[in-house]
Amino acid sequence: MPGIVFDEIERYIDDLANHGDAALRGIEKQGHDGDWPIVGPAEGSLLHVLARSIRASRILELGTAIGYSGTWLARALPADGQLVTVEWTPETADIARKNFAKTGVAKRVRIEVGSALEVVPRLDGPFDFIFNDIDKQHYVSVLPLCISKLRVGGLLVTDNVLWSGTVAQARRSREAEIIHEYNRKLAADPRMIVSIVPLRDGVSVALKAQD
Ligand SMILES: C[S@@+](CC[C@H](N)C(=O)[O-])C[C@H]1O[C@@H](n2cnc3c(N)ncnc32)[C@H](O)[C@@H]1O
Repeated sequence: MPGIVFDEIERYIDDLANHGDAALRGIEKQGHDGDWPIVGPAEGSLLHVLARSIRASRILELGTAIGYSGTWLARALPADGQLVTVEWTPETADIARKNFAKTGVAKRVRIEVGSALEVVPRLDGPFDFIFNDIDKQHYVSVLPLCISKLRVGGLLVTDNVLWSGTVAQARRSREAEIIHEYNRKLAADPRMIVSIVPLRDGVSVALKAQD
């Protein structure tokens, strides 16, 4: 994926990023070796800092993959907190389950296997923090579900919102068009205050300021 900031700046950010302990670095290596699309240490740290800053105790993640970002999030929780993470591929959820055990967060994590569009409506809200990192074609459909499950004062954080910078171009791919629509809808929602952080592939941080 081409970067959206100068390569040397990307390298600088990555060089200073916190990679966590040996268990988390193990999942990072598994991600690189197996070509899993994990968020990486700089964004993982950002998720952790944001969740911990608002003292999130109920976190929802959409798109578990092998449990990399999930571990960063689960480690931001208090001892009695919970991460609910949704993954539609059962074999991938199994890998994540093993990784959550390795990183010592399994007790705080519940994996829901299924499509986020079907699972989220039946989850008990509200959540303090939601991280959206599913298939981009579902971004627009999942947005109202995320906002409705978020408490006032909670954060909705979304990955890949700049899609290698192509959302800003006049001619967009289908995926870039969907992400652009997601960004526009989120920015125009009177309940939300949003900022896009040009980290990695673009991360938006949206505060639910009112109901
Ligand atoms: C980009 S990866 C998530 C990476 C993960 N957040 C991390 O950084 O460690 C997206 C994951 O979401 C799953 N996924 C995609 N669309 C989904 C959907 N609509 N519902 C549930 N899972 C989905 C994919 O199978 C994949 O494992």
